[in-house]
Amino acid sequence: MATKVHVIFYSMYGHVYRMAEAVAAGACELPATEVALLQVPELVPAEVLERSGAQAVRQTFAHVPLARVEHLADADAIIFGTPTRFGNMAAQMRNFLDQTGGLWARGALVGKVGSVFISTGTQHGGQETTITSFHSTLLHHGMIIVGVPYTVVGLSNMQEITGGSPYGASTLAGSDGSRLPSPNELEIARCQGRRVAEIAGRLARPH
Ligand SMILES: Cc1cc2nc3c(=O)[nH]c(=O)nc-3n(C[C@H](O)[C@H](O)[C@H](O)COP(=O)(O)O)c2cc1C
Repeated sequence: MATKVHVIFYSMYGHVYRMAEAVAAGACELPATEVALLQVPELVPAEVLERSGAQAVRQTFAHVPLARVEHLADADAIIFGTPTRFGNMAAQMRNFLDQTGGLWARGALVGKVGSVFISTGTQHGGQETTITSFHSTLLHHGMIIVGVPYTVVGLSNMQEITGGSPYGASTLAGSDGSRLPSPNELEIARCQGRRVAEIAGRLARPH
């Protein structure tokens, strides 16, 4: 039976979406792995998105299906992606997770692998806090948290400003959103996806 990995993200300006594609590509590298790329529903009114320029960008990934809470129990691993909002996950992701009370009540996610990647506007605007604060929710669900080990050499890259930490892959969008995920950040994202798929596979088929 294939290992099922869900990559579930929210993105307003496309940075987390690009990272999500890299994470999903990494997970796809593992044989016998079924990967679903999904997004959580938008909460911001269309006219607000229009004014901020997000509406046009969001069209580029409008084809990605919406995640459904009841499908989470089908996955062996769930990798969540979110932009930071004041150092925490975005409300769209929070809203999605806050509908998982039923799953929590029956322990439906206990023992599944959970992992997080993110985007911030600035270098010190919540790269690590957004991931580690997200982990609390995963731990309440009894999930097994997987990050990125330092054997992924891009984590130690000091030649450039870069996202990526042992907590998870990340990118920096820039204050005006003009910076795109760098090759180093995308490579860390790919490694995270691959690692999650590998560990989930081992947990699902220990022998
Ligand atoms: C309401 C709001 C709060 C934000 N808070 C932060 C923050 O605390 N730190 C930071 O670096 N960037 C912050 N940002 C910038 C976003 O994180 C940035 O736009 C996002 O990472 C881009 O990812 P996306 O293109 O996938 O939406 C904030 C943006 C908004 C709209």
